[in-house]
Amino acid sequence: MHWYLSLVAALAGCLVEPVVGVPHPTQQGTCKKTKVAILGGGVAGITAAQALTNASVHDFAILEYRDTLGGRAWHKPFGKDKDGKPYVIEMGANWDWEIQEERKIRSGSWWAQKYGLKTHYSNYDNVSTYNKDGYSDYSHLLDLYEDAYDIASQNAGEILTQNLQDQNAKSGLALAGWNPKSTDMEAQAVDWWSWDFEDAYSPLESSLAFGCAGDNLTSNYFSDHDNFVLDQRGFNMIFKKMASTFLRKNDPRLHLNTQVTNITYSDDGVTVHNKDGSCVEADYAIVTFSLGVLQNDAVKFSPKLPDWKQEAIQKFTMGTYTKIFFQFNETFWPSETQYHLYADPVTRGWYPIWQSLSTTGFLPESNIIFVTVTNEFAYRAERQTDEETKKEAMEVLRKMFPEKHIPEPTAFMYPRWTQEPWAYGSYSNWPPATSLEMHQNLRANAGRLWFAGEATSPTFFGFLHGAYFEGLDAGRQIAAVMQNRCVNANSTKLRECGPRKHYETLHGTSPYSDYTMLNGWAVDSFIDTNTD
Ligand SMILES: Cc1cc2nc3c(=O)[nH]c(=O)nc-3n(C[C@H](O)[C@H](O)[C@H](O)COP(=O)(O)OP(=O)(O)OC[C@H]3O[C@@H](n4cnc5c(N)ncnc54)[C@H](O)[C@@H]3O)c2cc1C
Ligand SMILES: *[C@@H]1O[C@H](CO)[C@@H](O)[C@H](O)[C@H]1NC(C)=O
Ligand SMILES: *[C@@H]1O[C@H](CO)[C@@H](O)[C@H](O)[C@H]1NC(C)=O
Ligand SMILES: *[C@@H]1O[C@H](CO)[C@@H](O)[C@H](O)[C@H]1NC(C)=O
Ligand SMILES: *[C@@H]1O[C@H](CO)[C@@H](O)[C@H](O)[C@H]1NC(C)=O
Ligand SMILES: *[C@@H]1O[C@H](CO)[C@@H](O)[C@H](O)[C@H]1NC(C)=O
Ligand SMILES: *[C@@H]1O[C@H](CO)[C@@H](O)[C@H](O)[C@H]1NC(C)=O
Repeated sequence: MHWYLSLVAALAGCLVEPVVGVPHPTQQGTCKKTKVAILGGGVAGITAAQALTNASVHDFAILEYRDTLGGRAWHKPFGKDKDGKPYVIEMGANWDWEIQEERKIRSGSWWAQKYGLKTHYSNYDNVSTYNKDGYSDYSHLLDLYEDAYDIASQNAGEILTQNLQDQNAKSGLALAGWNPKSTDMEAQAVDWWSWDFEDAYSPLESSLAFGCAGDNLTSNYFSDHDNFVLDQRGFNMIFKKMASTFLRKNDPRLHLNTQVTNITYSDDGVTVHNKDGSCVEADYAIVTFSLGVLQNDAVKFSPKLPDWKQEAIQKFTMGTYTKIFFQFNETFWPSETQYHLYADPVTRGWYPIWQSLSTTGFLPESNIIFVTVTNEFAYRAERQTDEETKKEAMEVLRKMFPEKHIPEPTAFMYPRWTQEPWAYGSYSNWPPATSLEMHQNLRANAGRLWFAGEATSPTFFGFLHGAYFEGLDAGRQIAAVMQNRCVNANSTKLRECGPRKHYETLHGTSPYSDYTMLNGWAVDSFIDTNTD
């Protein structure tokens, strides 16, 4: 599928003048005019556009920094197969959550089914354990963690339902019986694999209540059956297909290679200025940029975002999750096992999990394996050269498989997520002692400026399905407001309509009655996706 930048000529004449401090959109007459400006063409932006289309709002524009749709669902060619053709591997999102049979929505996620996405069951129990001397069975620690986690999660449920003070997940796990010593590196490896591998942050850096709630919600509303995407068209193919249901070839509403630099907003409208000098004037805008983009002031807002919004943006955290890919001329590791966990004797999180792709059902005979590092070690790898990182990682492999002669890789690659100016990191997380109220401020609109994306989902933050539900909700809500369907805010059909609630002052906790669709607690909306 090809997407073309088609409006360059039309926009070339757009006058650009500083609009600092002017609360109303400038009336220069040369900006492209549209009803809804969708800022970012990732999952949230594409879903918002589809939701608008479904509500008969066709006058929108999607402004996307890159030359492609999909955002953090992003792949690259890597290595080669027997015929010399490169494999397609995912730099970003890689796992797709299967939907429970009892939800009667087919097995496999609904988009995977719809578009025939090729995936394979990712079995987290299929893990071998290693330390500096090679294979070492400490898998009993995995069971100890699981037992404590179940207790911690129940306690987390009480924090949520009884509106109690949140805490960090490390203390929650310790009180539940999982309290690994800082010198017990096998336990530390299990701790990393059981928590950081998903959240990109350590238990100490994560909210107990919302870490556990997020886990529950994804496994309850989808399942704990995760499928690893191997589709050689790339994971973002499904989102491009979704976009092709409402965008035609050369659709003038799609502006690729368009970097938004300034956004002027008010209660009446929004003007968006782009780096190339073009501008768009809209009645509403939906900002779907990552939390990393917002935290890094990569886009200027005029007037400045209100204090409550700026605080919310800085209070949540943006993790970095880096997959480091290797291809060898042979598969020297036990290829029938999916995961290989390494406990470094000194450093927690040091090249900890090696995942084989050269495995039946994945990319057999590809001789590809990759190791995942998070935050501190992801930043470190980003600062190093490829050669430096490769050397360190190869030393780990040689410790894990001391009896093998390990050749140099024939291909090697990893992304540098914090340096991507359209992402500034991988995905968001909730730090300790957060509250739903705090998150409502992240999600709330500021005048005609709405926010959607992975980070604005309180239930599925960090995930593609979080971005999907948030794009869906923003698109539906804006359409409803535009079409005056919010007259009765008590309508059960729309549940919520109109501006979202925010708090000028945070109270620390939130009553359980606030955990509703209204605040993005999207638990019910799943069944509802196709109804308006
Ligand atoms: C390494 C990694 C692994 C992950 N693993 C999984 C996984 O296994 N499963 C899962 O469900 N999720 C996973 N995720 C998370 C998932 O990718 C995100 O939740 C989802 O893609 C976010 O979609 P979004 O639309 O909210 O944001 P984005 O995809 O970031 O979309 C925002 C868009 O805005 C654009 N943009 C940014 N700045 C500007 C600007 N100034 N002007 C114009 N456009 C701009 C960006 O280019 C981007 O296309 C992973 C992410 C990463 C990085
Ligand atoms: C955008 O913001 C930058 C930095 O604040 C400023 O220098 C520039 O003049 C602004 N451009 C527009 C079009 O508002
Ligand atoms: C839009 O409508 C189509 C057709 O009914 C449906 O498949 C799709 O899920 C809807 N999308 C959104 C975002 O509402
Ligand atoms: C992983 O699964 C494969 C295939 O079922 C099996 O042969 C292998 O022994 C398993 N490995 C572990 C560590 O459980
Ligand atoms: C998670 O689910 C378990 C089992 O249903 C429940 O006991 C617990 O309270 C839930 N925790 C949270 C934080 O929702
Ligand atoms: C892989 O390369 C190494 C040398 O780096 C060589 O010893 C080994 O035989 C090769 N394996 C295969 C399967 O060709
Ligand atoms: C919504 O319901 C509340 C409480 O039932 C009522 O006080 C309010 O007037 C209703 N609002 C509208 C717009 O009907």
